Amino acid sequence: MQRQLNAPLKHGVAAADPQPPERPDWTVDQGWEAYSAQDHGVWRTLFERQRRLLRGRACDPFVQALDDLPIGPDEIPDFRRLSDILMARTGWQVVAVPGLVPDEVFYEHLANRRFPAGNFIRKPHELDYLEEPDVFHDVFGHVPLLMHPVIADYTQAYGFGGLRAKQLGVLDKLARVYWYTVEFGLVQQADGLRIFGAGIASSALEAVFALDDPSPNRLRFDLERVMRTRYRIDDLQETYFVISDLDELLELARIDFAPIYARVAEQPELEPGSVLPEDRVITRGTGTYHAARHPAR
Ligand SMILES: [Fe+2]
Repeated sequence: MQRQLNAPLKHGVAAADPQPPERPDWTVDQGWEAYSAQDHGVWRTLFERQRRLLRGRACDPFVQALDDLPIGPDEIPDFRRLSDILMARTGWQVVAVPGLVPDEVFYEHLANRRFPAGNFIRKPHELDYLEEPDVFHDVFGHVPLLMHPVIADYTQAYGFGGLRAKQLGVLDKLARVYWYTVEFGLVQQADGLRIFGAGIASSALEAVFALDDPSPNRLRFDLERVMRTRYRIDDLQETYFVISDLDELLELARIDFAPIYARVAEQPELEPGSVLPEDRVITRGTGTYHAARHPAR
């Protein structure tokens, strides 16, 4: 199996051999008291590394929210304390799940402003390798921006949208929108490009690669374009899409995607590294990184 550099962020895909849940919504108790000193130590290592890397790279609301939440280096956060603050700010809470959950379960949680977070943490020898999103990816990566009212609404809308897209058979299209925004989105701040996607914010390699490396493309976000664009689940991204402001996502939370799915269905799918003449290019990548990693392509 190919080594995965990023947390595979496919929250909605059920694990190969899922254990039947005790609760129908697949939640479990976080079991905060059961974390070992080693678990908290892994958290500290990851937290301190990302905090250093994200200085000047994460968008301002992410940095601010980290200060406002009980998320620090000393211990894995307690979901109950996170939820108290999130609930007061944007009506969200964090619930614990043991790993990947089925699509409908995931979307149902988001539609009800519950963010399902893995309650386990990676091992010390696997700091950059994950098979399923763990507590560091989910809490450090996702929870800060759930404090932002636009991301809070957008993520909930994605939950409703997921339930609908599943019925329409277009889940792959919607998943790309989530992937290229909530997971791997960049935002244009007045002082430069910044990270807002959790997949980037929680990855040491990708936090640098997404902003500083000459290899990937950085293109202006366009909804239909993104719906057509495949992505890499097992490696750093070849293309990042840039929104002008987090408020841009507000419109996406409000519009009806059904007619857009219909238009997109008539257009060809796009490879992760492709650049079209009509793209608004911020950085045309050299493609060097992926050319070396995937020489057959
Ligand atoms: Fe994620």
